[in-house]
Amino acid sequence: MGTKGVEILGLDVDELIELLNKALADEWFAYYQYWIGAKVIKGPMREAAVAELIQHATDELRHADMVSNRIIQLGGTPVLSPKDWEKLSNCGYESPEDPFVKKILEQNIKGEQCAIQVYNSILGKVKDKDPVTYEIVLQILTDEIEHEDDLQAIMEDIELMQRRD
Ligand SMILES: [Fe+2]
Ligand SMILES: [Fe+2]
Repeated sequence: MGTKGVEILGLDVDELIELLNKALADEWFAYYQYWIGAKVIKGPMREAAVAELIQHATDELRHADMVSNRIIQLGGTPVLSPKDWEKLSNCGYESPEDPFVKKILEQNIKGEQCAIQVYNSILGKVKDKDPVTYEIVLQILTDEIEHEDDLQAIMEDIELMQRRD
């Protein structure tokens, strides 16, 4: 990044790059978990769930793009090998062994809740210190909050559908 761009940052840039790389690993896992989940999912509301999972996968890929661009701008190197994703990731990867729609939704809700915590924590760290990263992370956090809400809404509909009284 340009020297003035670095100079205005009121924080440890290497530490920030590390946090962003960890978030980047999370985004790749989230992307693949949604993408493969949309292929294998089965059960009630399948169509609606598939549409949502595909939309979320697209968003996670866009987040990976936003985070890696900022890492480069800060003078860092985005994680270069998938082999390092496991080690860096905060939220990990949950493979959809059980294709039942509620099981997949549960796994993805858990992932979103982890992502919300991660981005909220980064937001706190960059607040008043790096307005550009703040803006990017705020946009991503807004999406993750919407993702959690979307998935919980489908879950609620499935539960209402299965009501017997
Ligand atoms: Fe994301
Ligand atoms: Fe998400």
